[in-house]
Amino acid sequence: MGFFQRLFGICQTNPPADPSCWNVTGSTLTVDLQKSPELAASGGAIRIDGRGIDKRVLVFKGDDDQYHALINRCGHGGRRLDPMLGEGTVQCCSIGKSTYDYCGKRLSGSSRKDIRALELKHEGSTLTIDL
Ligand code: FES
Repeated sequence: MGFFQRLFGICQTNPPADPSCWNVTGSTLTVDLQKSPELAASGGAIRIDGRGIDKRVLVFKGDDDQYHALINRCGHGGRRLDPMLGEGTVQCCSIGKSTYDYCGKRLSGSSRKDIRALELKHEGSTLTIDL
Protein backbone atom coordinates (compact mmCIF):
# COMPACT_ATOMS: atom_id res chain seq x y z
CA MET A 1 0.00 0.00 0.00
CA GLY A 2 1.38 3.41 -0.96
CA PHE A 3 2.15 6.36 1.29
CA PHE A 4 -0.70 8.54 0.02
CA GLN A 5 -3.18 5.70 0.33
CA ARG A 6 -2.13 5.41 3.97
CA LEU A 7 -2.12 9.17 4.48
CA PHE A 8 -5.73 9.41 3.38
CA GLY A 9 -6.73 6.13 5.04
CA ILE A 10 -7.89 4.43 1.86
CA CYS A 11 -8.26 0.73 2.60
CA GLN A 12 -7.88 -2.05 0.06
CA THR A 13 -11.00 -3.94 1.11
CA ASN A 14 -14.15 -2.92 -0.73
CA PRO A 15 -17.84 -3.29 0.02
CA PRO A 16 -19.28 -6.44 -1.58
CA ALA A 17 -20.06 -6.14 -5.29
CA ASP A 18 -23.51 -7.58 -4.54
CA PRO A 19 -24.92 -5.61 -1.60
CA SER A 20 -27.73 -8.15 -1.21
CA CYS A 21 -25.16 -10.70 0.09
CA TRP A 22 -25.65 -9.46 3.66
CA ASN A 23 -28.55 -8.76 5.94
CA VAL A 24 -29.04 -7.69 9.55
CA THR A 25 -31.82 -8.93 11.78
CA GLY A 26 -31.67 -7.64 15.34
CA SER A 27 -28.07 -8.16 16.42
CA THR A 28 -27.32 -10.86 13.85
CA LEU A 29 -25.50 -10.25 10.59
CA THR A 30 -25.81 -12.96 7.95
CA VAL A 31 -23.63 -13.23 4.85
CA ASP A 32 -24.56 -15.41 1.89
CA LEU A 33 -21.31 -16.87 0.56
CA GLN A 34 -22.95 -17.72 -2.76
CA LYS A 35 -23.40 -14.00 -3.35
CA SER A 36 -19.99 -12.96 -2.06
CA PRO A 37 -17.28 -14.43 -4.31
CA GLU A 38 -14.84 -12.00 -2.69
CA LEU A 39 -14.69 -14.43 0.24
CA ALA A 40 -13.92 -17.54 -1.81
CA ALA A 41 -10.14 -17.52 -1.37
CA SER A 42 -7.87 -16.93 1.62
CA GLY A 43 -7.12 -13.24 1.96
CA GLY A 44 -10.50 -12.35 0.45
CA ALA A 45 -12.51 -9.78 2.36
CA ILE A 46 -15.51 -7.49 2.30
CA ARG A 47 -16.35 -4.52 4.45
CA ILE A 48 -19.89 -4.13 5.64
CA ASP A 49 -21.28 -0.85 6.89
CA GLY A 50 -24.17 1.54 6.31
CA ARG A 51 -27.67 0.27 5.33
CA GLY A 52 -29.21 -0.75 8.65
CA ILE A 53 -26.05 -1.66 10.52
CA ASP A 54 -24.64 0.56 13.24
CA LYS A 55 -21.13 -0.93 13.19
CA ARG A 56 -18.42 -1.31 10.60
CA VAL A 57 -17.56 -4.98 10.11
CA LEU A 58 -14.66 -6.58 8.27
CA VAL A 59 -15.44 -10.14 7.12
CA PHE A 60 -12.58 -12.13 5.66
CA LYS A 61 -11.19 -15.57 4.95
CA GLY A 62 -7.88 -15.93 6.73
CA ASP A 63 -4.68 -17.78 6.02
CA ASP A 64 -6.15 -20.55 8.19
CA ASP A 65 -8.90 -21.00 5.56
CA GLN A 66 -11.49 -19.99 8.16
CA TYR A 67 -13.88 -17.05 8.11
CA HIS A 68 -13.43 -14.22 10.61
CA ALA A 69 -15.25 -11.02 11.48
CA LEU A 70 -13.82 -8.02 13.30
CA ILE A 71 -15.10 -4.58 14.18
CA ASN A 72 -13.56 -2.60 11.33
CA ARG A 73 -12.28 0.32 13.36
CA CYS A 74 -8.62 0.64 14.34
CA GLY A 75 -8.02 1.16 18.04
CA HIS A 76 -5.77 4.12 17.26
CA GLY A 77 -7.75 6.51 15.07
CA GLY A 78 -10.66 4.43 13.87
CA ARG A 79 -9.54 3.81 10.32
CA ARG A 80 -10.42 0.64 8.45
CA LEU A 81 -8.47 -2.61 8.36
CA ASP A 82 -7.34 -5.02 5.66
CA PRO A 83 -6.30 -8.69 5.98
CA MET A 84 -2.58 -9.26 5.35
CA LEU A 85 -2.39 -12.38 3.22
CA GLY A 86 0.31 -14.77 4.37
CA GLU A 87 0.87 -12.97 7.68
CA GLY A 88 -2.12 -14.16 9.67
CA THR A 89 -2.98 -10.59 10.63
CA VAL A 90 -5.12 -7.61 9.76
CA GLN A 91 -3.61 -4.17 9.47
CA CYS A 92 -4.89 -0.62 9.64
CA CYS A 93 -4.72 1.25 6.33
CA SER A 94 -3.29 4.35 8.03
CA ILE A 95 0.33 5.39 8.48
CA GLY A 96 0.42 3.99 12.02
CA LYS A 97 0.03 0.44 10.59
CA SER A 98 -1.61 -0.97 13.69
CA THR A 99 -1.65 -4.72 13.29
CA TYR A 100 -3.91 -7.25 15.00
CA ASP A 101 -4.30 -10.98 15.06
CA TYR A 102 -7.53 -12.66 13.96
CA CYS A 103 -8.83 -12.45 17.53
CA GLY A 104 -8.40 -8.66 17.50
CA LYS A 105 -5.36 -8.63 19.78
CA ARG A 106 -3.03 -5.74 19.04
CA LEU A 107 0.38 -6.93 17.87
CA SER A 108 2.15 -3.74 16.73
CA GLY A 109 1.68 -0.21 15.45
CA SER A 110 0.27 3.01 16.88
CA SER A 111 -2.77 1.53 18.59
CA ARG A 112 -2.59 0.61 22.25
CA LYS A 113 -5.96 -1.14 22.19
CA ASP A 114 -7.28 -4.44 20.93
CA ILE A 115 -10.27 -4.52 18.63
CA ARG A 116 -13.32 -6.69 19.03
CA ALA A 117 -13.61 -9.99 17.20
CA LEU A 118 -17.19 -11.02 16.49
CA GLU A 119 -18.48 -14.52 17.06
CA LEU A 120 -19.04 -16.17 13.69
CA LYS A 121 -20.66 -19.45 12.68
CA HIS A 122 -20.23 -21.00 9.24
CA GLU A 123 -22.95 -23.37 8.13
CA GLY A 124 -23.31 -24.39 4.50
CA SER A 125 -23.11 -21.22 2.45
CA THR A 126 -24.10 -18.89 5.31
CA LEU A 127 -22.04 -16.95 7.81
CA THR A 128 -23.89 -15.88 10.95
CA ILE A 129 -22.18 -13.14 12.92
CA ASP A 130 -23.15 -11.81 16.35
CA LEU A 131 -22.82 -8.04 16.31
S1 FES B 1 -5.85 4.86 12.78
FE1 FES B 1 -4.95 2.91 12.68
S2 FES B 1 -2.87 3.24 13.13
FE2 FES B 1 -3.79 5.19 13.32
